[in-house]
Amino acid sequence: MGLNVGAWILLFLSSLALLSLIKFLHKVWWVPTRIKHVFSSQGVKGPPYRFIHGNTKEIAAMKDQARSPFTNISHDNLKSSKKLQAIEASLQQDLISEHFIRKCSGTAFTIFKSSDELKSDELQKGIEDLIMETIKERGKIMAVDPDTADFLGQLVKANHETDESYHVSIQDIIDECKTFYVSGDGTTSLVLSWAVLLLSIHTEWQERARHEIGMIINETLRLYPPGIAIIRKNEREVKLGNLVIPANVILHVPVLALHHDRTIWGEDAHLFNPERFSEGISKATKNNPSAYMPFGFGHRNCVGSNFATNTAKITLAMILQRYRFTPSPNYIHSPVHLLMLVPKNGVQVMLHAL
Ligand code: HEM
Ligand SMILES: *[C@@H]1O[C@H](CO)[C@@H](O)[C@H](O)[C@H]1NC(C)=O
Ligand SMILES: *[C@@H]1O[C@H](CO)[C@@H](O)[C@H](O)[C@H]1NC(C)=O
Repeated sequence: MGLNVGAWILLFLSSLALLSLIKFLHKVWWVPTRIKHVFSSQGVKGPPYRFIHGNTKEIAAMKDQARSPFTNISHDNLKSSKKLQAIEASLQQDLISEHFIRKCSGTAFTIFKSSDELKSDELQKGIEDLIMETIKERGKIMAVDPDTADFLGQLVKANHETDESYHVSIQDIIDECKTFYVSGDGTTSLVLSWAVLLLSIHTEWQERARHEIGMIINETLRLYPPGIAIIRKNEREVKLGNLVIPANVILHVPVLALHHDRTIWGEDAHLFNPERFSEGISKATKNNPSAYMPFGFGHRNCVGSNFATNTAKITLAMILQRYRFTPSPNYIHSPVHLLMLVPKNGVQVMLHAL
Protein backbone atom coordinates (compact mmCIF):
# COMPACT_ATOMS: atom_id res chain seq x y z
CA MET A 1 0.00 0.00 0.00
CA GLY A 2 2.74 2.46 1.11
CA LEU A 3 4.62 1.69 -2.05
CA ASN A 4 1.52 2.38 -4.11
CA VAL A 5 1.09 5.86 -2.61
CA GLY A 6 4.77 6.51 -3.31
CA ALA A 7 4.30 5.40 -6.92
CA TRP A 8 1.29 7.68 -7.31
CA ILE A 9 3.19 10.63 -5.97
CA LEU A 10 6.07 9.82 -8.27
CA LEU A 11 3.72 9.52 -11.23
CA PHE A 12 2.05 12.80 -10.30
CA LEU A 13 5.37 14.63 -9.97
CA SER A 14 6.77 13.22 -13.18
CA SER A 15 3.66 14.13 -15.16
CA LEU A 16 3.87 17.62 -13.64
CA ALA A 17 7.48 17.82 -14.78
CA LEU A 18 6.54 16.53 -18.22
CA LEU A 19 3.73 19.07 -18.46
CA SER A 20 6.10 21.87 -17.50
CA LEU A 21 8.58 20.67 -20.08
CA ILE A 22 5.89 20.59 -22.78
CA LYS A 23 4.75 24.06 -21.77
CA PHE A 24 8.33 25.31 -21.83
CA LEU A 25 9.03 23.76 -25.24
CA HIS A 26 5.75 25.12 -26.55
CA LYS A 27 6.80 28.60 -25.53
CA VAL A 28 10.45 28.62 -26.59
CA TRP A 29 10.30 26.28 -29.54
CA TRP A 30 6.83 25.63 -30.99
CA VAL A 31 5.43 29.20 -30.93
CA PRO A 32 8.51 30.92 -32.42
CA THR A 33 8.99 28.17 -34.99
CA ARG A 34 5.36 28.43 -36.05
CA ILE A 35 5.47 32.26 -36.24
CA LYS A 36 8.65 32.04 -38.29
CA HIS A 37 7.01 29.51 -40.60
CA VAL A 38 3.85 31.64 -41.03
CA PHE A 39 5.96 34.66 -41.94
CA SER A 40 8.49 32.90 -44.17
CA SER A 41 5.67 31.23 -46.11
CA GLN A 42 4.48 34.79 -46.89
CA GLY A 43 7.93 35.88 -47.97
CA VAL A 44 8.87 37.67 -44.74
CA LYS A 45 12.36 36.45 -43.89
CA GLY A 46 14.32 37.21 -40.76
CA PRO A 47 17.43 36.04 -38.94
CA PRO A 48 17.30 32.41 -37.72
CA TYR A 49 15.63 31.73 -34.38
CA ARG A 50 17.94 30.73 -31.60
CA PHE A 51 16.72 28.45 -28.86
CA ILE A 52 15.50 30.45 -25.82
CA HIS A 53 17.40 33.61 -26.83
CA GLY A 54 15.54 34.23 -30.09
CA ASN A 55 17.26 37.23 -31.63
CA THR A 56 17.90 39.11 -28.41
CA LYS A 57 21.69 38.67 -28.73
CA GLU A 58 21.75 40.11 -32.26
CA ILE A 59 19.54 42.99 -31.13
CA ALA A 60 21.83 43.73 -28.18
CA ALA A 61 24.93 43.60 -30.43
CA MET A 62 23.34 45.96 -32.95
CA LYS A 63 22.38 48.37 -30.18
CA ASP A 64 25.93 48.28 -28.80
CA GLN A 65 27.32 49.05 -32.20
CA ALA A 66 24.89 51.92 -32.69
CA ARG A 67 25.94 53.33 -29.32
CA SER A 68 29.43 54.29 -30.48
CA PRO A 69 29.61 58.06 -30.97
CA PHE A 70 29.41 59.57 -34.45
CA THR A 71 32.54 61.23 -35.79
CA ASN A 72 30.55 63.94 -37.47
CA ILE A 73 27.10 65.29 -36.83
CA SER A 74 24.80 63.55 -39.24
CA HIS A 75 21.06 63.04 -39.02
CA ASP A 76 21.31 59.90 -41.07
CA ASN A 77 20.31 56.91 -39.00
CA LEU A 78 22.32 54.80 -41.44
CA LYS A 79 25.49 56.54 -40.27
CA SER A 80 26.50 57.74 -43.73
CA SER A 81 28.99 60.57 -43.81
CA LYS A 82 26.73 63.24 -45.23
CA LYS A 83 27.45 66.60 -43.76
CA LEU A 84 25.22 68.54 -41.48
CA GLN A 85 23.30 71.18 -43.31
CA ALA A 86 22.50 74.11 -41.13
CA ILE A 87 19.64 76.37 -41.94
CA GLU A 88 19.14 79.87 -40.72
CA ALA A 89 15.94 80.02 -38.79
CA SER A 90 14.25 82.82 -40.64
CA LEU A 91 11.83 82.87 -37.78
CA GLN A 92 14.52 84.40 -35.65
CA GLN A 93 14.08 87.58 -37.62
CA ASP A 94 10.33 87.45 -37.16
CA LEU A 95 10.47 86.97 -33.43
CA ILE A 96 13.19 89.35 -32.45
CA SER A 97 12.53 92.99 -32.44
CA GLU A 98 14.25 95.31 -30.03
CA HIS A 99 14.47 98.98 -30.51
CA PHE A 100 15.76 101.84 -28.46
CA ILE A 101 15.03 105.47 -29.02
CA ARG A 102 16.51 108.31 -27.09
CA LYS A 103 14.45 111.19 -26.00
CA CYS A 104 15.92 114.61 -25.45
CA SER A 105 14.20 117.40 -23.60
CA GLY A 106 15.22 121.02 -23.54
CA THR A 107 15.16 123.31 -20.54
CA ALA A 108 13.21 126.52 -20.43
CA PHE A 109 13.79 129.50 -18.20
CA THR A 110 10.67 130.61 -16.35
CA ILE A 111 9.93 133.18 -13.64
CA PHE A 112 6.31 132.46 -12.90
CA LYS A 113 4.95 128.96 -12.68
CA SER A 114 1.40 127.94 -13.47
CA SER A 115 -0.39 125.33 -11.39
CA ASP A 116 0.24 122.83 -14.18
CA GLU A 117 3.93 123.60 -14.01
CA LEU A 118 3.92 123.25 -10.22
CA LYS A 119 2.23 119.89 -10.56
CA SER A 120 4.79 118.93 -13.18
CA ASP A 121 7.64 119.88 -10.82
CA GLU A 122 6.07 117.81 -8.10
CA LEU A 123 5.87 114.77 -10.36
CA GLN A 124 9.41 115.38 -11.57
CA LYS A 125 10.61 115.37 -7.97
CA GLY A 126 8.62 112.22 -7.21
CA ILE A 127 10.31 110.41 -10.11
CA GLU A 128 13.76 111.62 -9.11
CA ASP A 129 13.17 110.55 -5.50
CA LEU A 130 12.20 107.08 -6.70
CA ILE A 131 15.33 106.81 -8.81
CA MET A 132 17.43 108.20 -5.94
CA GLU A 133 16.08 105.46 -3.70
CA THR A 134 17.11 102.82 -6.24
CA ILE A 135 20.59 104.36 -6.51
CA LYS A 136 21.00 104.38 -2.72
CA GLU A 137 19.86 100.75 -2.56
CA ARG A 138 22.46 99.88 -5.16
CA GLY A 139 25.11 101.82 -3.22
CA LYS A 140 24.41 99.62 -0.19
CA ILE A 141 24.71 96.44 -2.27
CA MET A 142 27.94 97.74 -3.84
CA ALA A 143 29.42 98.34 -0.40
CA VAL A 144 29.04 94.61 0.33
CA ASP A 145 29.72 93.29 -3.18
CA PRO A 146 31.71 95.84 -5.23
CA ASP A 147 31.57 93.66 -8.36
CA THR A 148 27.94 94.33 -9.18
CA ALA A 149 28.83 95.04 -12.76
CA ASP A 150 25.55 95.96 -14.44
CA PHE A 151 24.98 99.39 -15.95
CA LEU A 152 23.62 101.03 -12.80
CA GLY A 153 26.49 99.48 -10.85
CA GLN A 154 29.03 101.03 -13.23
CA LEU A 155 27.39 104.45 -12.86
CA VAL A 156 27.38 104.25 -9.06
CA LYS A 157 31.06 103.24 -9.18
CA ALA A 158 31.79 106.24 -11.40
CA ASN A 159 30.09 108.46 -8.82
CA HIS A 160 32.76 107.48 -6.28
CA GLU A 161 35.49 108.18 -8.84
CA THR A 162 37.86 110.95 -7.64
CA ASP A 163 39.38 111.52 -11.07
CA GLU A 164 37.29 114.42 -12.39
CA SER A 165 37.24 113.15 -16.00
CA TYR A 166 35.65 109.82 -14.93
CA HIS A 167 33.33 111.24 -12.30
CA VAL A 168 29.57 110.95 -12.83
CA SER A 169 27.33 113.09 -10.64
CA ILE A 170 24.17 111.84 -8.94
CA GLN A 171 22.13 114.08 -11.22
CA ASP A 172 23.82 112.44 -14.24
CA ILE A 173 22.90 109.02 -12.91
CA ILE A 174 19.29 110.11 -12.40
CA ASP A 175 19.15 111.49 -15.94
CA GLU A 176 20.72 108.35 -17.36
CA CYS A 177 18.17 106.21 -15.52
CA LYS A 178 15.32 108.32 -16.88
CA THR A 179 16.66 108.01 -20.43
CA PHE A 180 16.89 104.26 -20.17
CA TYR A 181 13.51 103.92 -18.56
CA VAL A 182 11.80 106.00 -21.23
CA SER A 183 13.80 104.40 -24.06
CA GLY A 184 13.70 100.81 -22.96
CA ASP A 185 10.49 100.09 -21.13
CA GLY A 186 7.81 101.74 -23.21
CA THR A 187 9.22 101.05 -26.66
CA THR A 188 9.63 97.32 -26.23
CA SER A 189 6.11 96.82 -24.98
CA LEU A 190 4.88 99.22 -27.68
CA VAL A 191 6.42 97.28 -30.52
CA LEU A 192 4.79 94.18 -29.09
CA SER A 193 1.46 95.99 -28.78
CA TRP A 194 1.58 97.22 -32.36
CA ALA A 195 2.77 93.86 -33.63
CA VAL A 196 -0.17 92.21 -31.86
CA LEU A 197 -2.54 94.73 -33.46
CA LEU A 198 -1.06 94.23 -36.93
CA LEU A 199 -1.05 90.44 -36.62
CA SER A 200 -4.64 90.54 -35.34
CA ILE A 201 -5.60 92.26 -38.60
CA HIS A 202 -3.27 90.29 -40.88
CA THR A 203 -4.07 86.86 -39.51
CA GLU A 204 -2.28 85.20 -42.43
CA TRP A 205 1.04 86.41 -40.93
CA GLN A 206 0.13 84.92 -37.53
CA GLU A 207 -0.45 81.70 -39.39
CA ARG A 208 2.90 82.06 -41.13
CA ALA A 209 4.89 82.62 -37.91
CA ARG A 210 3.16 79.71 -36.21
CA HIS A 211 3.55 77.61 -39.33
CA GLU A 212 7.31 78.19 -39.56
CA ILE A 213 8.00 77.28 -35.95
CA GLY A 214 5.63 74.33 -36.43
CA MET A 215 7.70 73.25 -39.41
CA ILE A 216 10.88 73.37 -37.31
CA ILE A 217 9.31 71.29 -34.53
CA ASN A 218 7.88 68.81 -37.04
CA GLU A 219 11.22 68.41 -38.81
CA THR A 220 12.92 67.85 -35.44
CA LEU A 221 10.35 65.21 -34.54
CA ARG A 222 10.94 63.60 -37.95
CA LEU A 223 14.74 63.35 -37.57
CA TYR A 224 14.77 62.61 -33.85
CA PRO A 225 11.43 61.12 -32.78
CA PRO A 226 11.61 60.49 -29.00
CA GLY A 227 9.58 57.31 -29.53
CA ILE A 228 11.51 55.43 -32.20
CA ALA A 229 8.98 52.64 -32.58
CA ILE A 230 5.34 52.02 -31.87
CA ILE A 231 4.60 48.65 -30.43
CA ARG A 232 1.39 46.69 -30.74
CA LYS A 233 0.49 43.11 -29.85
CA ASN A 234 -2.32 41.43 -31.71
CA GLU A 235 -4.48 39.16 -29.58
CA ARG A 236 -6.08 37.47 -32.56
CA GLU A 237 -4.83 36.54 -36.00
CA VAL A 238 -5.15 39.61 -38.20
CA LYS A 239 -4.72 40.49 -41.83
CA LEU A 240 -2.42 43.45 -42.39
CA GLY A 241 -2.39 44.38 -46.05
CA ASN A 242 -1.41 41.15 -47.77
CA LEU A 243 0.09 39.69 -44.62
CA VAL A 244 -1.54 37.29 -42.22
CA ILE A 245 -0.19 37.93 -38.73
CA PRO A 246 -0.66 35.01 -36.32
CA ALA A 247 -1.98 35.80 -32.85
CA ASN A 248 0.26 37.18 -30.09
CA VAL A 249 2.93 38.67 -32.31
CA ILE A 250 4.59 41.80 -30.98
CA LEU A 251 4.70 44.24 -33.88
CA HIS A 252 7.22 47.04 -33.99
CA VAL A 253 6.30 49.91 -36.28
CA PRO A 254 9.76 51.36 -36.96
CA VAL A 255 8.95 55.09 -36.70
CA LEU A 256 12.61 56.17 -36.90
CA ALA A 257 13.24 54.10 -40.03
CA LEU A 258 10.06 55.40 -41.69
CA HIS A 259 11.07 58.97 -40.87
CA HIS A 260 14.42 58.49 -42.62
CA ASP A 261 13.17 56.51 -45.61
CA ARG A 262 14.38 58.07 -48.86
CA THR A 263 11.55 56.52 -50.86
CA ILE A 264 9.07 58.48 -48.73
CA TRP A 265 10.89 61.76 -48.07
CA GLY A 266 13.19 61.95 -51.04
CA GLU A 267 16.96 62.01 -51.37
CA ASP A 268 17.31 64.70 -48.67
CA ALA A 269 15.61 62.49 -46.06
CA HIS A 270 18.65 62.69 -43.79
CA LEU A 271 18.90 66.48 -43.95
CA PHE A 272 17.31 69.10 -41.72
CA ASN A 273 14.89 70.85 -44.03
CA PRO A 274 11.78 72.22 -42.26
CA GLU A 275 10.66 73.67 -45.59
CA ARG A 276 9.53 70.18 -46.63
CA PHE A 277 6.53 70.67 -44.29
CA SER A 278 5.54 73.99 -45.85
CA GLU A 279 2.67 72.45 -47.74
CA GLY A 280 1.59 69.96 -45.12
CA ILE A 281 2.33 66.40 -44.17
CA SER A 282 0.83 64.78 -47.28
CA LYS A 283 3.04 66.77 -49.63
CA ALA A 284 6.12 66.10 -47.48
CA THR A 285 5.47 62.35 -47.45
CA LYS A 286 4.47 61.95 -51.11
CA ASN A 287 0.94 61.10 -50.00
CA ASN A 288 1.95 58.71 -47.24
CA PRO A 289 0.87 60.88 -44.27
CA SER A 290 0.86 57.91 -41.91
CA ALA A 291 4.60 57.47 -42.54
CA TYR A 292 5.03 60.46 -40.21
CA MET A 293 4.04 59.42 -36.73
CA PRO A 294 6.07 61.00 -33.94
CA PHE A 295 2.97 60.77 -31.74
CA GLY A 296 1.85 57.35 -32.86
CA PHE A 297 -1.17 56.50 -34.88
CA GLY A 298 -4.75 55.41 -34.44
CA HIS A 299 -6.89 55.10 -31.34
CA ARG A 300 -4.00 54.95 -28.93
CA ASN A 301 -1.96 57.85 -30.23
CA CYS A 302 -0.43 60.41 -27.90
CA VAL A 303 -2.99 62.37 -25.86
CA GLY A 304 -0.41 65.06 -25.10
CA SER A 305 0.63 65.90 -28.67
CA ASN A 306 -0.99 69.35 -28.80
CA PHE A 307 0.22 70.24 -25.34
CA ALA A 308 3.73 68.99 -26.16
CA THR A 309 4.02 70.85 -29.48
CA ASN A 310 2.64 74.08 -28.01
CA THR A 311 5.06 73.91 -25.08
CA ALA A 312 7.95 73.25 -27.46
CA LYS A 313 6.93 76.14 -29.73
CA ILE A 314 6.66 78.65 -26.87
CA THR A 315 9.93 77.55 -25.26
CA LEU A 316 11.83 77.62 -28.54
CA ALA A 317 10.40 81.07 -29.37
CA MET A 318 11.55 82.36 -25.98
CA ILE A 319 15.08 81.01 -26.47
CA LEU A 320 15.28 82.46 -30.00
CA GLN A 321 14.22 85.84 -28.66
CA ARG A 322 17.14 85.92 -26.25
CA TYR A 323 19.94 83.93 -27.82
CA ARG A 324 21.78 82.89 -30.92
CA PHE A 325 23.36 79.48 -30.49
CA THR A 326 26.00 77.26 -32.07
CA PRO A 327 27.18 73.72 -31.17
CA SER A 328 29.81 73.55 -28.45
CA PRO A 329 33.19 72.11 -29.52
CA ASN A 330 32.64 69.57 -26.72
CA TYR A 331 29.48 68.21 -28.27
CA ILE A 332 29.71 64.53 -29.25
CA HIS A 333 26.89 63.40 -31.47
CA SER A 334 25.59 60.12 -30.09
CA PRO A 335 21.85 59.63 -30.28
CA VAL A 336 21.02 56.37 -28.54
CA HIS A 337 17.92 54.40 -27.76
CA LEU A 338 17.50 54.31 -24.00
CA LEU A 339 13.77 53.77 -23.75
CA MET A 340 13.57 56.96 -25.81
CA LEU A 341 15.87 58.49 -28.40
CA VAL A 342 18.26 60.49 -26.22
CA PRO A 343 21.55 62.36 -26.75
CA LYS A 344 23.82 60.09 -24.68
CA ASN A 345 26.32 62.83 -23.92
CA GLY A 346 23.78 65.62 -23.63
CA VAL A 347 23.45 68.59 -25.95
CA GLN A 348 26.02 71.29 -25.30
CA VAL A 349 25.56 74.52 -27.20
CA MET A 350 27.14 77.94 -26.93
CA LEU A 351 24.57 80.60 -26.14
CA HIS A 352 25.25 84.08 -27.42
CA ALA A 353 22.97 86.68 -25.87
CA LEU A 354 21.34 88.90 -28.44
C1 HEM B 1 7.23 65.56 -27.90
C2 HEM B 1 6.63 64.96 -26.89
C3 HEM B 1 5.90 63.63 -27.00
C4 HEM B 1 6.08 62.62 -27.89
C5 HEM B 1 7.07 62.52 -29.06
C6 HEM B 1 5.12 61.59 -27.53
C7 HEM B 1 4.97 60.40 -28.21
C8 HEM B 1 4.06 59.42 -27.90
C9 HEM B 1 3.92 58.17 -28.60
C10 HEM B 1 4.75 57.73 -29.80
C11 HEM B 1 2.92 57.48 -28.01
C12 HEM B 1 2.43 56.08 -28.40
C13 HEM B 1 1.33 56.25 -29.41
C14 HEM B 1 0.90 54.96 -30.03
O1 HEM B 1 1.18 53.88 -29.48
O2 HEM B 1 0.25 55.02 -31.11
C15 HEM B 1 2.43 58.29 -26.91
C16 HEM B 1 1.40 57.92 -26.06
C17 HEM B 1 0.96 58.69 -25.00
N1 HEM B 1 1.38 59.95 -24.67
FE1 HEM B 1 2.84 61.01 -25.59
N2 HEM B 1 4.40 62.01 -26.44
C18 HEM B 1 4.84 63.25 -26.08
C19 HEM B 1 4.37 64.05 -25.06
C20 HEM B 1 3.32 63.70 -24.22
C21 HEM B 1 2.79 64.55 -23.18
C22 HEM B 1 3.28 65.96 -22.86
C23 HEM B 1 1.80 63.85 -22.58
C24 HEM B 1 0.89 64.24 -21.44
C25 HEM B 1 0.52 65.47 -21.18
C26 HEM B 1 1.70 62.57 -23.24
C27 HEM B 1 0.80 61.58 -22.90
C28 HEM B 1 0.67 60.37 -23.56
C29 HEM B 1 -0.26 59.31 -23.16
C30 HEM B 1 -1.22 59.34 -21.98
C31 HEM B 1 -0.09 58.26 -24.07
C32 HEM B 1 -0.83 56.92 -24.10
C33 HEM B 1 -2.06 57.05 -24.94
C34 HEM B 1 -2.85 55.75 -25.01
O3 HEM B 1 -2.26 54.68 -24.85
O4 HEM B 1 -4.07 55.84 -25.25
N3 HEM B 1 2.64 62.52 -24.22
N4 HEM B 1 3.13 59.47 -26.86
C1 LIG C 1 34.00 64.16 -40.91
O1 LIG C 1 34.11 65.45 -41.48
C2 LIG C 1 35.39 65.75 -41.96
C3 LIG C 1 35.42 67.20 -42.41
O2 LIG C 1 34.16 67.67 -42.76
C4 LIG C 1 35.76 64.76 -43.09
O3 LIG C 1 37.05 65.05 -43.57
C5 LIG C 1 35.70 63.35 -42.54
O4 LIG C 1 35.92 62.42 -43.57
C6 LIG C 1 34.33 63.07 -41.91
N1 LIG C 1 34.38 61.76 -41.24
C7 LIG C 1 33.39 60.87 -41.38
C8 LIG C 1 33.58 59.59 -40.63
O5 LIG C 1 32.40 61.06 -42.03
C1 LIG D 1 3.11 69.23 -37.94
O1 LIG D 1 2.69 67.89 -37.77
C2 LIG D 1 1.38 67.71 -37.28
C3 LIG D 1 1.15 66.23 -37.14
O2 LIG D 1 2.03 65.69 -36.15
C4 LIG D 1 0.37 68.35 -38.23
O3 LIG D 1 -0.92 68.25 -37.71
C5 LIG D 1 0.74 69.82 -38.43
O4 LIG D 1 -0.11 70.38 -39.38
C6 LIG D 1 2.17 69.95 -38.88
N1 LIG D 1 2.52 71.37 -38.94
C7 LIG D 1 3.26 71.87 -39.92
C8 LIG D 1 3.49 73.34 -39.87
O5 LIG D 1 3.75 71.19 -40.79
